Amino acid sequence: MFYLIDKGSLATVTGELSRLYIWTGWIAFIVIIPLALTSMDYFVRKMGTWWKWLQRWTYAAAVLTLIHWAALHDWGGIAPAMTHFGPLIALEAYRVWYWYLRPGRRTVAA
Ligand code: HEM
Repeated sequence: MFYLIDKGSLATVTGELSRLYIWTGWIAFIVIIPLALTSMDYFVRKMGTWWKWLQRWTYAAAVLTLIHWAALHDWGGIAPAMTHFGPLIALEAYRVWYWYLRPGRRTVAA
């Protein structure tokens, strides 16, 4: 909303769509809308396994947001972006280790 108010005209907003740091933001935003709309318990029950499939699109939105942020100001934002994405990457690395690499983990066959 602030971006739209700041630009002040539809022509300026559409004119900027081809910029990497803008279209990545818009696509991340569009991806997030159905996730937000279906985040309550009612939809978790109604959608069954599709709910998890849909929520996993959050990974695509996260990558797009990283590019969006890093590409701002001619890629000057990679360091600040990484201060926020570093913890996310660490959490994901922990999950991969816990589920697939941890010594003594239970396998399907076991
Ligand atoms: C709806 C489409 C979007 C547009 C048009 C847009 C546009 C912008 C612009 C112009 C800036 C630079 C502000 C400045 O420093 O002058 C910015 C910064 C940023 N945007 Fe977006 N954005 C969008 C969506 C998103 C989404 C969905 C996310 C995350 C979920 C996001 C996260 C950020 C972050 C983290 C920054 C950096 C803020 C900072 O400098 O600390 N944006 N965005």
